[in-house]
Amino acid sequence: MDTRFFSFLILTLFLLSFLPTPSFCSRSLATTVRCNKNDYTALMKIKAALNNPYHLASWVANTDCCDWYDVECDSNTNRIIQLTIFQANISGQIPDAVGDLPYLNTLVFRHITNLTGTIPSTITNLKYLTMVRLSYTNLSGSIPPFLSKLTNLDYLDLSFNQFTGSIPSSLSSLPNLTVLHLDRNSLTGTIPKSFGNFKQSLNLYLSHNQISGEIPTTLGKVDFVTIDLGRNKLQGDASMLFKANGSTTQTIDLSRNMFAFNLSKVEFATNLQYLDISHNKIYGSIPEAITGLDLQYLNVSYNQLCGKIPQGGKVQNFDSYSFYHNKCLCGSPLAACT
Ligand SMILES: *[C@@H]1O[C@H](CO)[C@@H](O)[C@H](O)[C@H]1NC(C)=O
Ligand SMILES: *[C@@H]1O[C@H](CO)[C@@H](O)[C@H](O)[C@H]1NC(C)=O
Ligand SMILES: *[C@@H]1O[C@H](CO)[C@@H](O)[C@H](O)[C@H]1NC(C)=O
Ligand SMILES: *[C@@H]1O[C@H](CO)[C@@H](O)[C@H](O)[C@H]1NC(C)=O
Ligand SMILES: *[C@@H]1O[C@H](CO)[C@@H](O)[C@H](O)[C@H]1NC(C)=O
Ligand SMILES: *[C@@H]1O[C@H](CO)[C@@H](O)[C@H](O)[C@H]1NC(C)=O
Ligand SMILES: *[C@@H]1O[C@H](CO)[C@@H](O)[C@H](O)[C@H]1NC(C)=O
Repeated sequence: MDTRFFSFLILTLFLLSFLPTPSFCSRSLATTVRCNKNDYTALMKIKAALNNPYHLASWVANTDCCDWYDVECDSNTNRIIQLTIFQANISGQIPDAVGDLPYLNTLVFRHITNLTGTIPSTITNLKYLTMVRLSYTNLSGSIPPFLSKLTNLDYLDLSFNQFTGSIPSSLSSLPNLTVLHLDRNSLTGTIPKSFGNFKQSLNLYLSHNQISGEIPTTLGKVDFVTIDLGRNKLQGDASMLFKANGSTTQTIDLSRNMFAFNLSKVEFATNLQYLDISHNKIYGSIPEAITGLDLQYLNVSYNQLCGKIPQGGKVQNFDSYSFYHNKCLCGSPLAACT
């Protein structure tokens, strides 16, 4: 250790020993309450509406709300910008009073079994929201079209709930949305035609619902990074989701639907890493270009495919269970073609 630094350290420790540290700290905290009055009132209403749960025990009356758990204040304005309630034993509904925190950019209720009811319309007061995650809860009713008023939304996650009804077409007007999780609900109806209007790169998760019909051909215009349509009741053509040129697609999951189209003609995005088309009625053969992909996952089982499995690249990293139950696929890892 440098001697100068060492003497400095000794001096500092010496001086510090004269400071009455603990009382000094607590006094300075008590005199600077950062919490905005309106935010404080809204949070107290939220706590009451959730029946004063133990999870919010740090939300004590007449203390600085910027010190409470599950919220965050902006360091300049001291306004509440995040409300994040995770894994809590809370019974009740999302309080209307969340709409009284006008500077929120992040609203999260996750892993709360007994959170029920619908999404309150007061949420549309929150113009700065970029992230909304209401997931692993027991919310129900339809997915409200008014969510499209939250024009700064980048991330919307409503997965693992009991939502019913169809997907509101208005969601495609959200200009900054890059992640949309509506998976693991009980949604019905078709994928809105308007979903072809997404201009930005999108991660779209619609799996584990009861969405039906054909997918709109306009989806071919969207730059999907991820498209997960697994475990629905979709049918017809999905080949428009396969694009080579300029496409950033990494993940395509069409598994467990009733899609029927000719796979021979599709092109693959160079970034494609995850391809699951299992349990459909897809016919034709597997294009040779699949050997050029850096595949992490491949499953084409339970379809009507025929012909020789392309040999090379990552394709033979996957065992026969990725290819079995087709019409007449042959070659490694299945039996040799005759
Ligand atoms: C949910 O509510 C039920 C009935 O009110 C209660 O017994 C249970 O402990 C609650 N569970 C959780 C994780 O909140
Ligand atoms: C949840 O809270 C309720 C009411 O406070 C309590 O009766 C119940 O035991 C708690 N459940 C769990 C899983 O902690
Ligand atoms: C929804 O509620 C049911 C019944 O109370 C429960 O079994 C299930 O785990 C809950 N779902 C979630 C995601 O918490
Ligand atoms: C929304 O996207 C536009 C264009 O990409 C960008 O200029 C703007 O800053 C974004 N808004 C937010 C809140 O990220
Ligand atoms: C993809 O781009 C290359 C080079 O720009 C071009 O030669 C090829 O025709 C394009 N393919 C398709 C299907 O557009
Ligand atoms: C699929 O398309 C290929 C290439 O165009 C064609 O040769 C083949 O006959 C088609 N297969 C079926 C089953 O329609
Ligand atoms: C592919 O899907 C089939 C059918 O669901 C399943 O049995 C098999 O294990 C899957 N293969 C892989 C590698 O996950």
